[in-house]
Amino acid sequence: MSTVTGPITGFAVTDAEKAAMDTALAAALRGPRGANPLVGAVVLGSDGKQLVAGYHRGAGTAHAEADAIAEARAAGIDLKGTTMVVTLEPCNHSGRTGPCSQAIIDAGVSRVVYAVDDPHHHAAGGAVTLRAAGVAVESGLGAEEATELNREWFDAVRRRRPFVTLHIAQTLDSRIAASDGTSQWISSQESLADNHGLRGLIDAILVGTETVLVDNPRLTARNGAGEESGKQPLRAVMGLRGIPEEAAIRGSDGNFVHLPTRDPAEALAMLYARDIRHVMVEGGSRVLSAFLAAGLVDELIVYLAPTLLGSGTPALRELGISTLADAQHWTWDEAGGGAVRRLGRDLRLHLKPLAATAEDHKDGKDAAEATEGEH
Ligand SMILES: NC(=O)c1ccc[n+]([C@@H]2O[C@H](COP(=O)([O-])OP(=O)(O)OC[C@H]3O[C@@H](n4cnc5c(N)ncnc54)[C@H](OP(=O)(O)O)[C@@H]3O)[C@@H](O)[C@H]2O)c1
Repeated sequence: MSTVTGPITGFAVTDAEKAAMDTALAAALRGPRGANPLVGAVVLGSDGKQLVAGYHRGAGTAHAEADAIAEARAAGIDLKGTTMVVTLEPCNHSGRTGPCSQAIIDAGVSRVVYAVDDPHHHAAGGAVTLRAAGVAVESGLGAEEATELNREWFDAVRRRRPFVTLHIAQTLDSRIAASDGTSQWISSQESLADNHGLRGLIDAILVGTETVLVDNPRLTARNGAGEESGKQPLRAVMGLRGIPEEAAIRGSDGNFVHLPTRDPAEALAMLYARDIRHVMVEGGSRVLSAFLAAGLVDELIVYLAPTLLGSGTPALRELGISTLADAQHWTWDEAGGGAVRRLGRDLRLHLKPLAATAEDHKDGKDAAEATEGEH
């Protein structure tokens, strides 16, 4: 029995389509958060049987619809007369991948049921293209769940700012460096490799001036052999002091920017103007804290090492919270590989901001308490 909401437009959807939306939402969660939303797609046969499911693996890779079509082709499935159930309106634009609306038309899919409209003006219109080509299109099934699935992403798009991932590599007692300033490496090799994998998915990586002056990091995406590999993020430093000419972060590829500000919102605006849609803030603690205090973090990834330092640089500093009632609340995020994972000796924790959801009310929780975490 499906648990998805809708449809809100009053059309008729089958039980099979409702169940397929459940599957599509679960498939979507397998992808990583970032510049693009989490999206899942399921193809149904004319008998209502779920044939294949696809999902989006992050910016620059196939969209969920194209992934499902590719899966079907690989399995020798003829898509003529099938129904596609997808968590977001199929796109209509040729970005880094082709338009999904055309791929769906070309594949012979005869009906599309999607949850929510694409908020991008340049991408919206997939439904119009599909209808014009004779494909039956319905929307609104699972709209509440699909909106919640990408709540922070929709918010970032609406506010025209990059999606923000905060990265912290810390000890068990929340230190990111020892008292002499050494911090390389607190994390296990597995955590470092995971972090380098993330660097390959993002558009930009950002640190504070102090981290550049103390650590002199390169901030490139590197493979296990330590070589630069794949797409490299823009390297950004935020702060008022100048960055030494010889600083490693400058590199030799010109893929570097100094953001002369201490205001996280201003830094994000500068990055957005350079077409950055996903930034990972890597530290140090002053910059991490500034983003958290400003309520500008969409996703938190913490590598927790079973190590104690007792003193040294704390992971976080002042967040402007003096009473428990004002605490920031976060919730576990299962997207992109799960909320809690072992990486060598470390734990990798994945969280997103807590907001009041229908689930909170169902659980009988005090809604006011739940909304305290909204920021
Ligand atoms: N374990 C890890 O994952 C990790 C990662 C990164 C860093 N670290 C460690 O963190 C330590 C550095 O942390 P940190 O907190 O001292 O420095 P930080 O956050 O890296 O940099 C602080 C500097 O950034 C500038 N800045 C920009 N925006 C700011 C804001 N809103 N508030 C305050 N300052 C702002 C200021 O410099 P201006 O005067 O130029 O404005 C400030 O002095 C280093 O020891 C490093 O090894 C650890």
